[in-house]
Amino acid sequence: MCGIMAVKGVGAVNGVYEGLKNLEYRGYDSAGIAIKDCNGIKAFKSIGYISELEKTGVLDCSGGIAIGHTRWATHGGVTIENCHPHCSEDKKIWVVHNGIIENHKLLRSDVLAGVVFYGETDTEVIPKLIEQYYTGDVWQAFRSAIDKLNGSYAIVMMCEYDDKVYFARKSSPLVIGKGNGFVVSSDVNGLIDCSEKCVIEDNTLGYIDNNLHIYDKNTNKININWIAMDERSIEADKGGNEHFMIKEINEIPRALQSTYNSFLKSEVVLPDNISNVLLVGCGTSYHSCLMGKSYIERVAGIKSECVIASEFIYSNYIVREGTVGIFVSQSGETADTLSAIHKAKELGIYCIAITNVRESSITRICDSVLYIDVGVEVCVASTKAYTSQVLMLMLLSDVIARNLKCEGTCKEDVLGCNCGNCLEIRANEYNDLFNLDIKSYLSKVRGVSEEIVKKDKLHLIGKAVDYITALEGALKIKEVSYIFTDAYPSGELKHGTLSLIEEGSIVIAIATQGGILLDKSKNAIHEICARGGKCIIISQFPEEEFNEVIWCNDGKRCVKRGEYIPLPNLNSLLMPIVSIIPIDLIAYTVSVMKGYNPDKPRNLAKSVTVE
Ligand code: F6R
Repeated sequence: MCGIMAVKGVGAVNGVYEGLKNLEYRGYDSAGIAIKDCNGIKAFKSIGYISELEKTGVLDCSGGIAIGHTRWATHGGVTIENCHPHCSEDKKIWVVHNGIIENHKLLRSDVLAGVVFYGETDTEVIPKLIEQYYTGDVWQAFRSAIDKLNGSYAIVMMCEYDDKVYFARKSSPLVIGKGNGFVVSSDVNGLIDCSEKCVIEDNTLGYIDNNLHIYDKNTNKININWIAMDERSIEADKGGNEHFMIKEINEIPRALQSTYNSFLKSEVVLPDNISNVLLVGCGTSYHSCLMGKSYIERVAGIKSECVIASEFIYSNYIVREGTVGIFVSQSGETADTLSAIHKAKELGIYCIAITNVRESSITRICDSVLYIDVGVEVCVASTKAYTSQVLMLMLLSDVIARNLKCEGTCKEDVLGCNCGNCLEIRANEYNDLFNLDIKSYLSKVRGVSEEIVKKDKLHLIGKAVDYITALEGALKIKEVSYIFTDAYPSGELKHGTLSLIEEGSIVIAIATQGGILLDKSKNAIHEICARGGKCIIISQFPEEEFNEVIWCNDGKRCVKRGEYIPLPNLNSLLMPIVSIIPIDLIAYTVSVMKGYNPDKPRNLAKSVTVE
């Protein structure tokens, strides 16, 4: 959510521009770059994607320092005035910021009374405060200004008084890279051409001259820990695909393999005597939590509950003895999830993180961490991270089961032991997962997408875990195609939603559960088809299984009111991982058919670092 960049060194302008392009998924309302050369500082701003900045001529300029920003508006509309970098009244001090300054209104009317503001952002108070406090010592003025701020921030500042880059961080990520010069960025994706990185700790501030200097709030110097850059963290290109979304869906099998390997290498530490598991996340990661609950209850046989992070923060959560918290976040930077962890820790809960991003904030505040290791996920809509989060939660449910029931007898075994307590999945069944043929769905998906694209609403149904897949599928489709989409448990249709079904309605029905659940799913499908609706059935059971419910008499003749998308027939524990894939593909295809950019849905951004 908002990307910030700064480069001090050769090629600063180009470095900031290219870095911003890699951070664009954090926000894409507007963008700006300020450049310092021997004549002073000048700024270039544009509305829309980063590429619009090129038209301002910014790339024809050069300078020893440049700072830049790609915005996801929180305070004030999408206007040039509100676009970062923001400056002091005398235009000598320039700032980019990610986060929210909660006391900005108070500061405007109090310390900054009489100061002229050109925009509505909370950020604009920062350069103005620094200007107020400047009496010849920039570092002192910067610290005084930071002292006045409440809220969350990652801030980068440069000025005409010296050649330093100043930065501060509180509850918003910031990382510094070293190569030919220094690079400051919201995340590692901005650290192009850097050989080492240093993750800036929370509640610290500092500056870069010829070296990096970091201090805590009491100006105690902090030791700098340079870490070699991980090649994989900067592989953010589309690899010949039209969009990141399709690239990332195609990567699902490889990502699952990587998650599995990461699990085998991990050493997750669990407390003894777990009796209750609390799972917390937002959006897609919350849906993974719902899947996690179903695995933990099925495999480990203990009570689990899921809470949406933004709800957990303000809930009166009653902790029971033996509660373990699992916090799921692809980015590891989602503000709601981080706040939920802080609350859980205050309540004395042992916290386990499941994340994709090494050194992200979540990894620093949880007691134990599991990495899904799927490589960078650039598309705002999460796909490969979701399937891998679900796999990781399934594998974790096995660890919990062993801890509780096996008393060490099978702890040394790799998965697939036959003690009767643990996951019963054989190695070849995992291989089927790692070799899924994503392309095999494409022709079917195209056909159904051509029908969906004409609709303005869409429903998804499923029973048990298939209902969770329906929830995640509905989120994905509405997120990138802007079609109103909702999900219901199949059995709930007749309690209200069936009134929405009419001739031509389309319902995606996920039916991967066998036995009585399959019969019940078929009933729901028939209820829809009998009322003129059309069902797109996603299932591993043979198509013939559904013939009796999708063929209906329309008064004149028997008509088929269903389409069928076949899934591979895997172990039932693995079905939730494969059943979402055709729905992800439908979301992508419909979005592209409607002429949208699925990688950057309107009003959204990846890595939601504000509450
Ligand atoms: C939807 C999506 C979001 C994220 C949510 C949490 O496709 O990507 O709903 O899942 O914003 O993000 P993380 O997992 O980074 O905490």
